[in-house]
Amino acid sequence: MDTKCLHIKQGGERLSREEEAGLRQAAEIIRGGGLVAFPTETVYGLGGDALNPESSRKIYAAKGRPSDNPLIIHICRFEDIRKIVRQLPEAAVKIAEAFWPGPLTMILPKAPIVPRETTGGLDTVAVRFPSHPVAQKLIAYSGGYIAAPSANLSGKPSPTSAKYVIEDMDGRIDMIIDDGEVGIGLESTILDLASDMPRILRPGYITQEMLDKLLGKVDIDVTIVEPDSGQAPRAPGMKYRHYAPKGRLIIVEGPAERVIPYINGHAAENQRAGEKTGVIGTAEVLEQYHADVVKCIGSRKDEETIARNLFSVLREFDDENVTSIYSESFPAQGLGQAIMNRLLKAAGHRIVKL
Ligand code: TXA
Ligand code: MG
Repeated sequence: MDTKCLHIKQGGERLSREEEAGLRQAAEIIRGGGLVAFPTETVYGLGGDALNPESSRKIYAAKGRPSDNPLIIHICRFEDIRKIVRQLPEAAVKIAEAFWPGPLTMILPKAPIVPRETTGGLDTVAVRFPSHPVAQKLIAYSGGYIAAPSANLSGKPSPTSAKYVIEDMDGRIDMIIDDGEVGIGLESTILDLASDMPRILRPGYITQEMLDKLLGKVDIDVTIVEPDSGQAPRAPGMKYRHYAPKGRLIIVEGPAERVIPYINGHAAENQRAGEKTGVIGTAEVLEQYHADVVKCIGSRKDEETIARNLFSVLREFDDENVTSIYSESFPAQGLGQAIMNRLLKAAGHRIVKL
């Protein structure tokens, strides 16, 4: 399949005539049952008509994703949620008022109009109203309901730039809308509102602390705070190995004066054994590391940059064929909870505590 690419240069609200026409064409593709990758504020999505079961089947095929892993439906006006959910609890309205449009997904009981292909066979549906202006326009022009997982091949880190979408999806989908790099870089927070108590199934930019403040107290899936609990996560997608670089990644937790020598010692040992070694470090201590490839993930003082860089750093190690990677660890509070959740998954939960 020949994948078209639409470049958005102007960005934001003000699109040129050609860009507008390109988005209309993208919407026609989606209405006709095709697939278009598009930018959102979190990561790029791989979009198809959420109410067309054939489109959802195509999404699973293009990603190589197991079809029991449900998709998120993206909307562009709050009222549009009413058509796809069976109940709209008070809490959902409150959350939407506080955080929509934005990087938060709600799980609610699904209405019959939503095909089971889209929800991976579940009786609930995930809904998100993204804030990205290009995403909003595409959704509006496409009829209001776009099903979109992250636009990566299954198992790879979510794409934070169109170049990674092209890497994974060129030849597999109809069109890619290239709007450069995204703002947040981690996927949306997922909040389950379909059971007795609001519960975070995937941490993200909207943090547990922010949700606690709004709703009193929210629960969090046990597998996020106790990754070795042995229980199955409630978001089907969270059980899959994910975000993983090709190299073996190990997280090293502890004070810098112990972490740095530990990493340098092991990197040297692995180098001697013929491995190409890598380090994910923070700006403050970066020059103290010795390895084949040392990547800066940002400053410890700036978690938002760390979040934005994480997935691209993981992909870059693949490009450089690094086989053994060590990473610093981060405090799992605030946005750090989402950063550590993704990093731990990427490491297959290998963590050394010093
Ligand atoms: O930021 C995001 O959420 C991005 C952008 C494109 O919007 N999308 C995204 O989609 O990350 P995806 O498919 O890669 O991740 C969706 C997650 C999966 O872990 C899936 O299992 C979970 O949401 N999910 C979807 N519907 C669900 C449901 N009804 N119940 C529980 N989990 C659900
Ligand atoms: Mg994904």
